[in-house]
Amino acid sequence: MAKSIIIEASENGPYLIKVDGKVMTALCRCGGSKNKPYCDGTHAKIGFKAGRAEVRID
Ligand code: FES
Repeated sequence: MAKSIIIEASENGPYLIKVDGKVMTALCRCGGSKNKPYCDGTHAKIGFKAGRAEVRID
């Protein structure tokens, strides 16, 4: 059973879904991915800028 889940809005990048400290998936938040809802790295090419934040679910 998972001990902790973190949804991290990474700086200038995707939402990272972490379970027990391990990144399980990365979801696009720049709107540019050609493989939504997943991040495909496009955020770096288009110069996406956004701050970092996280939500913990314990
Ligand atoms: S956040 Fe990575 S492609 Fe959108």
